[in-house]
Amino acid sequence: MAKILTGIQSTGTPHLGNILGAILPAIRMANESSEESYLFIANMHSLTQIKDRKTLGDNTFATAAAWLAFDLDTHKSCFYRQSDIPEVTELAWYLSCFFPYQRLKLAHSFKDKSENLKDINSGLFSYPMLMSADILIYDAKVVPVGKDQLQHLEMTRDVASRFNNLMGDTFIIPEAKIQDDSNYVTGTDGQKMSKSKNNIIDIFSDDRSLKKQIMKIQTKSLSVDEPKDPNECNIFKLYKLIADEENVKNLSTRYIKGKIGYGESKEILYNEILNKFAKNREKFSELMDNKELVEKLLTSGAKKARVQAQKVLKRVRASIGY
Ligand code: TRP
Repeated sequence: MAKILTGIQSTGTPHLGNILGAILPAIRMANESSEESYLFIANMHSLTQIKDRKTLGDNTFATAAAWLAFDLDTHKSCFYRQSDIPEVTELAWYLSCFFPYQRLKLAHSFKDKSENLKDINSGLFSYPMLMSADILIYDAKVVPVGKDQLQHLEMTRDVASRFNNLMGDTFIIPEAKIQDDSNYVTGTDGQKMSKSKNNIIDIFSDDRSLKKQIMKIQTKSLSVDEPKDPNECNIFKLYKLIADEENVKNLSTRYIKGKIGYGESKEILYNEILNKFAKNREKFSELMDNKELVEKLLTSGAKKARVQAQKVLKRVRASIGY
């Protein structure tokens, strides 16, 4: 498998949707790849929105701990903070000079917020150029991302080709690897799980609040005895994503027969989460208590990544004639 890279938004502690939809697939790909992979926390992209030093730091730390708690192999992959690679911002500038304003204006990251232009900083406008630099500076070939990032990836391919055409072959053109829909995780209200919708399940929270989140899952109002369609039930949908096949089948049979209430079904889901993620939860809290270790891992990841970044940047400078 070719060289993989992905950037991780750090908006706080990753929830079950982030874990199943992004963290686990990316870690699997990275661990299976024969080449070194690049996984980083996009904390310079966060600065377009967050202006609080403590929040920025805390979010980065919790995000790093979550990835590490799922056994990301930091020997095989470079795991680092974007802000530790200053070469990226230099490249972002060069790329900006090769990309038309008229096209950048159409980026969702900017357009979606542009009704309120007075609240928009120019970092948010240039967001796709920084993201392109993130990718191109490591000669990355495969970029696993959610559907919402597809347009940014198209811009990355576009700016790389424009540069190559005008200045000579310099960049590898990367490909997006869209995370498939089977990883779609429903939140407690039945919509896609997302922090902004306040419908998340945070597996790293303590037992009591975890239970509270699960109790919040919305269901139909059918009595215990009534048969239920498992595929229409938000509890079952989550269970199906975590439990093994045999258990899923058993629960499905019970739903169809009737004689299971939503309370019991929530209890089953809760226990499955505790069971399945026991090791990860333990590791997460150990890491949260050991900031020095997380810091050390991120710093040594950056050191490895920077060697590659400097190599590519040198090639770019040569292509421009600097
Ligand atoms: N913009 C991405 C997101 O919101 C995060 C990101 C930053 C990224 N740089 C990247 C993803 C490079 C892939 C490659 O999810």
